[in-house]
Parts: sequence; C-alpha cells; structure tokens
Amino acid sequence: MEEQKTGKVIAVVSAKGGVGQTMIATNLAIALQKKFLSIVLVDGKMQFGDIAVALDLRSAITMKEVAEEMARIDSSTISNYLNEHESGISVLPAPDRPEFAELITKEMFLNTVKLLQQHNDFVVVDCGYAFDDSTIELLDVADEILVITTLDMISLKNTKQLLDTFNMLGYTGKVRLVLNRHNMESLIKAEDVPAMMGTEEVFYIANNFKVVSQSLNIGIPIVSRRGSSDVAKDLFKLAETIISKSPEHQPQQSIKRRWFPSLK
Ligand SMILES: Nc1ncnc2c1ncn2[C@@H]1O[C@H](COP(=O)(O)OP(=O)(O)OP(=O)(O)O)[C@@H](O)[C@H]1O
Ligand SMILES: [Mg+2]
Repeated sequence: MEEQKTGKVIAVVSAKGGVGQTMIATNLAIALQKKFLSIVLVDGKMQFGDIAVALDLRSAITMKEVAEEMARIDSSTISNYLNEHESGISVLPAPDRPEFAELITKEMFLNTVKLLQQHNDFVVVDCGYAFDDSTIELLDVADEILVITTLDMISLKNTKQLLDTFNMLGYTGKVRLVLNRHNMESLIKAEDVPAMMGTEEVFYIANNFKVVSQSLNIGIPIVSRRGSSDVAKDLFKLAETIISKSPEHQPQQSIKRRWFPSLK
C-alpha cells in the first residue's frame, strides 16, 4: 500500500488581480517537481481560472468532473482525474466555463485538496484574489500562504490590509510576502517594502515582461524553457526556500541519478 504522504498545501493569493499569481503558482509547482518531489497544481479560481492556458492543457479533466464524481472518488482514484503535464507535475484545472463554478461546493473543493495531499509532497493552489468561503477555509488548512504583490500603490495598500487581516486570523507564521517584478520602474522602491508591510522576510522575483508574457501566451513555463533567465532563477530560489522549511518533504534522488551521478 502506498504511504500516506499528507503533503503540504501552498496557497498562492493576492489582494489585487494581475500581479502574477498564476505565473508564480505554475512555475513554483514545476520548480518543486524538479527536486524530484511529487507535486499537484490546483486552480482554485473556479471562475476564469487560467492554469489550463498557462500550461497549454487542452481538453483537460477539470474540477467540474471531480465535483460530478465526488461521491465515488477516494484517495486511490483521485489521481485518475488529474492531468499529467509534460514537466512531471499533475494538474487539476478550473472548470472551462464560468457558470460551472457554482457546481463546486466548498466541501467538494476542500475534500479534493485533502485527497490530493495523501499522494503528493506539495499541493500548490492558485487561489486568485477574491476571498470566498472555499478560499478562507483553504487558508485555514494551508501550510504556507504566499501573498503576491507588485510595487504599485493599490496592490501595496491592499496587501498591507490583507496581511493585517491574516495577522488577526493567526496566520502570521505561515504567511510569506512575494514581491513580483521587484526591479520594475516605480516611485516606490523595493527596499521600502519590508518596512511598509511590517515584515522582514520578502521574496523577490525579477521583472521580465518579455520572458513572462511569452511564456504565458505560448503555455510553456519559464522554469522549463527559460531556466537561466533572471525570473526563473528567483523562482527556483523560492522553491528551495519552501523545501528548506519543510524537512519532512526533502528531495529524493532518482534511481538514474544515484546510479549515474554525473548525469545532470
Ligand atoms: N515577473 C514578471 N515580469 C514581468 N511581467 C510579469 C511578471 N509577472 C507577471 N507579469 C505580467 O503580468 C501578467 C499577469 O500575470 P498572471 O496572469 O500570472 O497574474 P495573475 O495575478 O494570475 O492575474 P489574474 O488576477 O488575472 O489571475 C502577465 O501576463 C505578465 O505580462
Ligand atoms: Mg491568474
């Protein structure tokens, strides 16, 4: 019988749209997988989720099919509803039409995440910026909450409010701030962000519009195809930090690498 992994849940959230949640959730999942961990990426944005497009998954099985079959799904059959991406991660996209979102109850969503934890090291969820009941309950069970912001004033103002709310909810120890596009041209400087947000630990992701927009448009993740770019290097660093905070989910060497250590 397969071991019960009880993987870590990483919720990727923001206080404003368009700040890079999908780019970060997608690439983080693949960067973690490159360390020989088993990873599932879930689109938690039931209306207009973008994971399927970001990974160029066509006619994918979605959360709608999982919801329809929920009564018959258990920890041994949930994997039949996942899409295998060529990078090696498993993916559960959002329904392909916005009206299907209402078919997915909070209980179905949370149960799905729980079942996925049993067979994976990490369950990465792209949550979006609208905090509905499902998202809030997911944040309760999440092991890490990555709050994504950029340097624009509206994003920073909303992020500060979100961090204060998370503080009141007792999430502080598991919340990490990620400043995306930290070196973009801006009146507010990246070095002012820790003091503004009241947090010392900030992860920085480089600004690279050409690489990021091309990657999202053609559906090929940055860490797969543009691994040496500045933005990919920052994403790998973020993955390393998350793994280092998770001693029970350390990379395992593949058999190939153990036998042929010279292989990269
Ligand atoms: N590090 C980056 N450097 C340059 N441009 C970026 C970066 N990250 C994101 N972008 C730009 O921001 C756009 C939005 O990114 P993404 O779709 O990941 O954001 P999102 O927060 O998921 O948005 P939504 O709220 O629509 O779900 C991308 O198309 C890209 O053009
Ligand atoms: Mg998105």
